[in-house]
Amino acid sequence: MTHFKSGWSDYLNPEKDKQYFKALDYYLISKNNLNSQIIGIEPFLNGVVSVIYSCVKQNIDNILVYPNPVEKFLEKYKKIYFKEIFILFPDPWHKKKHHKRRLVQLPFLKNIVKRLDKNGKLYFATDNQDYFESVQDCLDSKDLKKIPIVHKKIDVKHLGQTKYFLRAKKLGNKVNFLVIVKS
Ligand SMILES: C[S@@+](CC[C@H](N)C(=O)[O-])C[C@H]1O[C@@H](n2cnc3c(N)ncnc32)[C@H](O)[C@@H]1O
Repeated sequence: MTHFKSGWSDYLNPEKDKQYFKALDYYLISKNNLNSQIIGIEPFLNGVVSVIYSCVKQNIDNILVYPNPVEKFLEKYKKIYFKEIFILFPDPWHKKKHHKRRLVQLPFLKNIVKRLDKNGKLYFATDNQDYFESVQDCLDSKDLKKIPIVHKKIDVKHLGQTKYFLRAKKLGNKVNFLVIVKS
């Protein structure tokens, strides 16, 4: 999900709005999956306001917003399983001493892939090479081998042009994108 970075006035300008909406992950996901119910999970108030504002302005009515961390959602709604899960550009926490704050680590990954439907897919994208490699290491770990999944790197052309994807491109960062499929 995404944040308001500047003042409200920027988001009340129809032209800027258009550009802004086009780069929202949940907007792209919603438009590509009109017959699906989408759950947008975003713990920060700015992000939540941003989702609600975009949904109202763009007549999006297939998103439910959960205003808390995804870990809390998984804990609270144990019976909900997903056809697709998108984790696009989670905060990379660049400094080594902060890596433990990264969202996608082995316990989380184990927990979330269990919540995929049969043939369900989890998409993960990052422009942080170290984060990408650490996720690949988790996927190769024997703990995850017990869960029937296959994972492969896929071309970024399958990825919507989200705000952080555009940012990565602007910075000249390589984006790695992978899909995990539960069999
Ligand atoms: C770097 S932004 C990426 C935004 C968007 N996915 C994109 O591609 O442009 C990371 C987002 O993850 C959200 N986030 C951070 N921790 C989270 C958590 N535990 N559960 C759900 N969302 C979280 C942040 O609030 C922020 O909106």
